[in-house]
Formats: sequence, structure tokens, C-alpha cells
Amino acid sequence: MLFLDFRRVAEIGFDPHASDKLKATPTPPPMFAATTIADEILDLKKQRKAILLAHHYQEPEIQELADVVGDSLELARRARDFAGDAIAFCGVWFMAETAKVVNPGRIVVVPDRAATCSLVDSCPVEAVREFRRRNPDHVIVSYINTSIEVKAESDILCTSRNAVKVVNSILREKPILFLPDSNLGDYVRKQTGRENMQIWQGTCIVHATFPARRLAEAKAEHAGAKVVAHPECPAAVLAMADFIGSTSAIVDWCAASQAAEFIVMTESGIRFSLQKVAPGKRFYFVANENCNCSECPYMKLNTLEKLRDCLIALAPRVELPEDTVRRALVPLERMLALK
Ligand code: 13P
Ligand code: SF4
Repeated sequence: MLFLDFRRVAEIGFDPHASDKLKATPTPPPMFAATTIADEILDLKKQRKAILLAHHYQEPEIQELADVVGDSLELARRARDFAGDAIAFCGVWFMAETAKVVNPGRIVVVPDRAATCSLVDSCPVEAVREFRRRNPDHVIVSYINTSIEVKAESDILCTSRNAVKVVNSILREKPILFLPDSNLGDYVRKQTGRENMQIWQGTCIVHATFPARRLAEAKAEHAGAKVVAHPECPAAVLAMADFIGSTSAIVDWCAASQAAEFIVMTESGIRFSLQKVAPGKRFYFVANENCNCSECPYMKLNTLEKLRDCLIALAPRVELPEDTVRRALVPLERMLALK
């Protein structure tokens, strides 16, 4: 067989009698498909006996490889129920810490250590301890978007999926401190009619900066589209929503809805999950006023390359003090026990 080696043609120039020289070119070795980073990750996953958990806000190429894609509650539950040696957590650090609390003997790694959350940063543990000292009668309900130290100071945890249920499970006469998300706290207070609930003033840099004005414009542009929103959005945005829920609840609701178009008031990484369950439907996103996008800068720190590298190095690894794990497990188990 004649293999045309174009580099050789360039070397020898155009020569009408060159076919004999070209025939002399040795047959190149067979070409094998190059190993992709995705292949490497899948191999490493097997070698490490690892499960790959991913949040809906992760890039599509990460979600595609994940064993489970879900919201914070689903991922916390799945982290508890698996057989294997390691968890590669593609989400933010507090989610991986939660996975470590239920898996103290297993390795938990995150592709990028800097993947934190503005809500975690808004709630330092010293301030929570100070509140506890001054208000020993209050039940502290902590959103899962908190540090492990804050969880250890809490009475019960909640996620966006079960926050109303968690607050309703507490005796009505008991005063509550809800922390740290003020928008979720306001939403829960309205839903439960709970007056004796103090609310921390933390916010999510993505959801809290979705302007109601831009949502109104999107609604005018896409008349007939349903509005779905995450409860971390401001009250003015939630007031315009047809459905409010966690990321997975939003995906499920859009899949089940008769509507064909949706304006989605949450981080735009969720588009991948939405299109998977509802390929024929259309999803519109509204940019926030911080960065004119709808992406979480922390979630987006994780990449395929960093995921591969963290499975090789088994780092960045979540390591937590035993005593903190023991104390954080109590409010976490209380939440997980609520059906
Ligand atoms: P979910 O639990 O609804 O997935 O929310 C996590 C989160 O960080 C939202 O910004
Ligand atoms: Fe935290 Fe907001 Fe990012 Fe969710 S979207 S991880 S709440 S900063």
C-alpha cells in the first residue's frame, strides 16, 4: 500500500518521477486512538474503587462521568450508601466535608481545594458560638452550605429540599436561629408561618444577585414560559416563580410539567440535567448582576484535568478532626432521619 507522507513530499518538492522515492517510504505503525482524560478518569475510578459524585452545577463533561448527579441532599445520602474506598466529590468543599462525616474511614477528594461557597464564608464559627452563648434556648438550624465547624455547633441541618420540613419538625414554641442564607430563611419563615425564627444575613453571590427586573424582562420576552427558582433567590424573584425548589426538584418539576419553555433562576450548569430529562423543552437563564453570567465561580473551579489529578494524587483530601466529625454527625443524622 502507498502511504502518502506529506512531510516527505514537502522535503523532496514536487517531482513527477517521485513515486519511486515515495514507494520507498516505510509503512507507518498502526494508529491507536489516543487515551482521553475521560478514559483516564474511568480507569482511575476503578483502580481507586472510587465513586464519583457530582452536583448539577458541574460542567457537562464532569456530569457525564459521574455515578450520581444530584442536589445536596441526594449527594449526602448517596455518600452514605456506597461500597468502595474513595469518593471523588465534584462540587464544593462543604459538600465533600459532609460526605467525609458519613465516611470517616474513606478517602474523600475534591478536584479543587478553593471550591468553597460564599454562604460558608458568611458564617464564621466564632459568631455562631457567641450566638449560642447568648441564646442557649434557641434551636440552631443550619443550611448544609456551612463549614463543618458550624455544623458541629448546630442542632439540625437542612438543605434547600427539606428546609421547610426540618423547621416544621421543631416544636412551635421553640425559638430558632436559621443560618446562614437570608433568602432561604425568609422563604422558610413564610412557608412555615414561624415568627420566632431569627435569620442570619448570609447570601449566595449567584442567586442573591438575580434581579427581579431582569426576570420580568425575560418573562415579557418568553410569554408562556414557566418560572422555576431556587429558594436562595431574593423574595422579589421568588414571588414571580411558578415553582420553588432544590436543584433536583427543579429538574423533576420541569420534566413533569406540560409546559415547553422555562425561565430557570439558578446556576446555569443545571442546563445539562434539564436537557437530559426534557430534551424537547427550552430553558432560558437570566444573568445576575455580579458578573453578568449565571455561573457559580466556586463550582466552576473543578475541571476534568483536576478531577483526573485528584484521583492520581488522592488530594486535595478532606481531613477533619475526629471530635468535629463526631459532633457534626449528630445534626446531620437528625436531618437524614427525616423522611
Ligand atoms: P441544592 O441542594 O438545591 O442542589 O443547592 C446547592 C447550592 O449550593 C445551591 O446554590
Ligand atoms: Fe454557594 Fe451559591 Fe455557589 Fe451554591 S451557587 S455553591 S450557594 S456560592
